[in-house]
Amino acid sequence: MKSKRQLPSPRFVLPLINWGVPTLRRHKARMSKVVTVRDLQKIARTRVPKAVYDYVEGGAHEEISLARTANAFLRVELQPNVLRDISNVDTSIEIFGKKTAMPVIFAPTGYTRMMHHTGEPAVAEVAEKNNLVYCLSTMGTTAPDDLASAVPGARRWYQFYLMKDRQASLDFIKRAKDTGFEVLMLTVDTPVSGIRARDIRNGLTVPPKIGLKTFLDMTTKPNWWMNLLTTAPLEFAAFRGYKEPLAQLAAKIYDPSLNFEDISWLRTVWDGPIIIKGVQSVSDAEKLADIGVQGIVLSNHGGRQLDKGPVMIELLPKVAEKVGGRLDIYVDGGFMTGQDVVAAIAFGAKAVLIGRAYLYGIMADGQNGVEKVVEILQAEISNTMALMGIAKISEINSSHAKLRSN
Ligand code: LAC
Repeated sequence: MKSKRQLPSPRFVLPLINWGVPTLRRHKARMSKVVTVRDLQKIARTRVPKAVYDYVEGGAHEEISLARTANAFLRVELQPNVLRDISNVDTSIEIFGKKTAMPVIFAPTGYTRMMHHTGEPAVAEVAEKNNLVYCLSTMGTTAPDDLASAVPGARRWYQFYLMKDRQASLDFIKRAKDTGFEVLMLTVDTPVSGIRARDIRNGLTVPPKIGLKTFLDMTTKPNWWMNLLTTAPLEFAAFRGYKEPLAQLAAKIYDPSLNFEDISWLRTVWDGPIIIKGVQSVSDAEKLADIGVQGIVLSNHGGRQLDKGPVMIELLPKVAEKVGGRLDIYVDGGFMTGQDVVAAIAFGAKAVLIGRAYLYGIMADGQNGVEKVVEILQAEISNTMALMGIAKISEINSSHAKLRSN
């Protein structure tokens, strides 16, 4: 029987349409279409000057570590099980005895107020609202005490560098303790700073050498400029009051003589958990387990320090095999999806640190963008677990992921 024609009925068509009220604000419209962290990255690129975007995006030298890391993520193969009861998927884990909503931690990132004027406090507020950990960077643009008063309830960790001047380091440690920072995260992959070609070309060095081209490009982002000019000046806030020029200050912060004995010393002056960030070999992980720190972060500093070193998710299972039971293993570097977070847990990580991912969020849309990153990762982790037949993070084991050879 042929189908019979009838007059079009809006009653039938309208419920199928989800156009919403057309918005005049293009940015809002773009934000409303965001599905992945990569979508936020695309928006981020249009919101800040090129020099700022490059600082976040770039790596050291030829950026080979970055490229290899991206390639390794392509080789991740998840191994699902079907016919498991996943009616209640729980993404939470316990870190140092306290529950956190998912195995994702906000990594320390330098200059966060340069990406968006709301900076560190905005990110920490998102952490607090979502029951996640926020780690403040020593190179942050908000001082530890200012962060503590802005978000007293947030679970705060403190990343720092042991400075040549140990007394000055002790002052930092004391300040962190007094203002309620729970964990000390010592970065050890910066005996000297990496050579970052993009930043050098853009003049984003310490001290800055901004050329006319970079400056003119900055003027094409009036919102970013206005926000920068009408809020407190950018500074390494933790070093407020230090009189030296920036270059001398930077040379003070990185101590090229740092060694394992210093870690033992650190244990005597900080009674909370210590995490060492920037470990890139099995043998160093073993030494740190022997010294007795509570955690390590396998990290190549987002490919921003030594280039052509090992790829962290390739190294992770080997480190987990040797020291897995003795300390917490965290990992970072380019994590953008919940799938890769689940894979990292399968390879032996306790949790993943995200840096660029939330910086894309804050560059794209300030605090709202960071909130979006959390929403995306939370949904992706939960969805991936469900599709793999996993109800709880503690069920994830080495059978759940592998790295393909191609
Ligand atoms: C960086 C420093 C701040 O990676 O850790 O830019």
